[in-house]
Amino acid sequence: MNTLESRNTLRRSFRNARNLLSRQQQQKASQAILDQTKQFLPPAVKRVALYLANDGEPDLSLLIKHCWQHGMATSLPVLHPVTKKHLLMLDYTAHTKMQTNRFGIAEPALDCQAIRLLSEHDVVFMPLVGFDKKGNRLGMGGGFYDRTLSKVAEQKNRPRLIGIAHDCQQADSLPIQPWDVPLDAIITPTLIIQT
Ligand SMILES: Nc1ncnc2c1ncn2[C@@H]1O[C@H](COP(=O)(O)OP(=O)(O)OP(=O)(O)O)[C@@H](O)[C@H]1O
Ligand SMILES: [Mg+2]
Repeated sequence: MNTLESRNTLRRSFRNARNLLSRQQQQKASQAILDQTKQFLPPAVKRVALYLANDGEPDLSLLIKHCWQHGMATSLPVLHPVTKKHLLMLDYTAHTKMQTNRFGIAEPALDCQAIRLLSEHDVVFMPLVGFDKKGNRLGMGGGFYDRTLSKVAEQKNRPRLIGIAHDCQQADSLPIQPWDVPLDAIITPTLIIQT
């Protein structure tokens, strides 16, 4: 099997596993992930990017509420309207008008005033399909996060990049490619892997 095939086989297996989690397991995971993420959100953190769960991903609603209650601004990724396969970060509040994108995922309706630069974020929490103990990340396969974050390592004030996953998404070892953006940490309900 070549690397692409093995990455796709792993993707199928982890997506299947997380979609089989019960509602109760998902709720437990959300609470545990909230507890685990708090240490990455000291008072100095002003803006956090996160995601709305899709395809069995850990639900970050509790984390979003936590941010709002503690005065942290939040952003959500939006499919870039111009640059193919890139994401834009848009401010997200309780009043943000939402729409559904072509993947069926809810995202803030495009509003130029709401665009936030990556450098304005202290932390970017992102979903993943698979991870390993070295902190390597396998995404859904579109390369959206990899493209969007490809220059982030060169920035002076760059956000911390943190992957969020269920425990059942851990691989022994992932076949990683040169374009895969390295993460600073991966958080699951029971693990914190710092690279
Ligand atoms: N910085 C980049 N510039 C150009 N193409 C890229 C870049 N990063 C990734 N790609 C391309 O995107 C495709 C998918 O990449 P990959 O398999 O790593 O996706 P992924 O990490 O699973 O997805 P995502 O980043 O959306 O979570 C690959 O064909 C890869 O060549
Ligand atoms: Mg990748």
